[in-house]
Amino acid sequence: MLIRTKADLKGIAEAGKAVAVTLRKMREFTKPGISTKELDDYGKEILESFGAVSAPFKDYKFPGCTCISVNYEVCHGIPKETTIIKEGDLVNIDVSAALNGYYGDNGGSFIVGEDSQELQRLVTASQEILNLAIPQIKSGGRISDLGGFIEKEAKKRGFEVIRNLCGHGVGKSLHEEPSEIPCFRDKNNKLRFRKNTVIALETFISTKAKEVAQLDDKWTYVTNDKSFVAQHEHTLIVTDGKPVILTKANGI
Ligand code: CO
Ligand code: CO
Repeated sequence: MLIRTKADLKGIAEAGKAVAVTLRKMREFTKPGISTKELDDYGKEILESFGAVSAPFKDYKFPGCTCISVNYEVCHGIPKETTIIKEGDLVNIDVSAALNGYYGDNGGSFIVGEDSQELQRLVTASQEILNLAIPQIKSGGRISDLGGFIEKEAKKRGFEVIRNLCGHGVGKSLHEEPSEIPCFRDKNNKLRFRKNTVIALETFISTKAKEVAQLDDKWTYVTNDKSFVAQHEHTLIVTDGKPVILTKANGI
């Protein structure tokens, strides 16, 4: 969306805060032995305390409130009573919600307890690259240049990027124009960032794979070669200078 009024600014900031606080609290609540369904129910309570409604549930009939993806699951993981979180798991929580007609979207990967799969370097890379990429965004800048930057930073650290998942515009619905903000230099993407638009920037940093595939459940994306992927995501407003991060409260 393009922010046109003070009410837009207030509305989008409130939605950003609701999803950010929910994500942070869910991350803090995660511990070995709980199911991803329990974690999702907890997230639902927090969103409801803000008056917010899960965006994937509302807009796409997702069978859950938040997306919780464990280990080889990359994103859109369905919360389940049978998925029990274990020490050392790589967990990704993605929280997006609507509040008073405005949408916020954020996500993050982390390791539960001791890093027995040695994935902390991947998680740190994803978080660092997101935080390095955000100040690169400026009105008039090319989306493909940002993708090139993310790809370069990933390769510098010995990682790859997933090419068929990407960031996106957000605001009055979960997915808006620009519909694709990839993590690589997409030469066909001639679009530029526009001042006062709201976008969700997300990294998809991979130990090896460059693509993900969807499971038969029609939701969960996984890598086919057992690569691990870490994602971090902020919702932000494009300006002439540094973007305004609306999901700062997530602690990423
Ligand atoms: Co998201
Ligand atoms: Co998103």
